[in-house]
Amino acid sequence: MYAIIGASGNTGSVVAGKLLAHGEKVRVIGRDAKRLERLVQAGAEAFVGNVTDAAALTQAFSGARAVYLMIPPNPAIPNVREDQERVSDALVAAVQSAGVEYAVVLSSIGADKPDKTGPVVGLHNLEQKLNGVARLKAVYLRAGYFMENLLPQVMIIKSFGVTGGPLRSDLKVAMIATQDIGVAAAEALLKLEISGKQARELLGQRDLTYVEVASVIGKAIGKPGLGYMHLGPAQIKPALVQVGMSSNMADLILEMSESLNSGYMAPLEPRSAQNTTPTSIETFVTEQIVPKFTGKAAGA
Ligand SMILES: NC(=O)c1ccc[n+]([C@@H]2O[C@H](COP(=O)([O-])OP(=O)(O)OC[C@H]3O[C@@H](n4cnc5c(N)ncnc54)[C@H](OP(=O)(O)O)[C@@H]3O)[C@@H](O)[C@H]2O)c1
Repeated sequence: MYAIIGASGNTGSVVAGKLLAHGEKVRVIGRDAKRLERLVQAGAEAFVGNVTDAAALTQAFSGARAVYLMIPPNPAIPNVREDQERVSDALVAAVQSAGVEYAVVLSSIGADKPDKTGPVVGLHNLEQKLNGVARLKAVYLRAGYFMENLLPQVMIIKSFGVTGGPLRSDLKVAMIATQDIGVAAAEALLKLEISGKQARELLGQRDLTYVEVASVIGKAIGKPGLGYMHLGPAQIKPALVQVGMSSNMADLILEMSESLNSGYMAPLEPRSAQNTTPTSIETFVTEQIVPKFTGKAAGA
């Protein structure tokens, strides 16, 4: 049996769906039974619980040979790093007390660094804490920058006629669709060819600058020549707070952006067939950005 944290989310829903399609027994974990219902219909067992509750997670993991772990984003909380530590403590305690043998863990590029990477410090610490669980075999999927981070650009384009953000306009970023992470995680869970503790990078289909992304979006929405504006912290922070992030989360995003801009936070592996995944920016834009821009669901 497999237990999946974040099963109603971007990556977890793909992981759970793939395992179920393969005929595996799956326990899906989340805070809201309704959001897990689609997976229950597909054959999963739902477990409603909070990732800060080690006792509940121990129950959720009991009988599971392998688990999919993540620290769910909590962007509105006043102290993000404290929350991440609470969650990673609970996850690790539950892995230990339930005697889980294998974990596939959602991490990030930059998780090799102990500091200055904003929210990714929480993932570094999660990896370190899991390293302390002697009998656990774990793979840390260090994913690149989610293409889903581009979705708020729709609102920016509608308001200002341009894309914008804190990353340098000439910075090549390994951008990945969360679908590809879910597929890679499901494959790792099905094979369970994990020995000891390993980190594995997932870098998406190709590296892209925001200028290149703007060009792809522009072509797809009928605004050829759509540009990108590199914005400073004084412009970005109020915008992040306005869309619901705590001041602390906004500061951490800016810290991470600075580390990406300086190259401190970057993939460690050269691009290869193993760390490259299929979904291109063109596909992501067609399937996710265009429907959001036009207000029409994909395929409608
Ligand atoms: N954005 C990036 O560029 C990037 C890059 C690399 C790594 N990451 C990492 O990716 C992770 C996010 O992955 P994702 O996009 O798949 O997540 P997601 O779509 O935001 O899903 C989070 C899931 O966790 C559940 N959840 C939220 N709070 C919970 C709680 N307190 N207790 C139990 N369940 C809870 C949610 O379901 P309910 O709301 O129904 O409970 C949801 O299913 C983060 O750790 C982030 O640091 C992000």
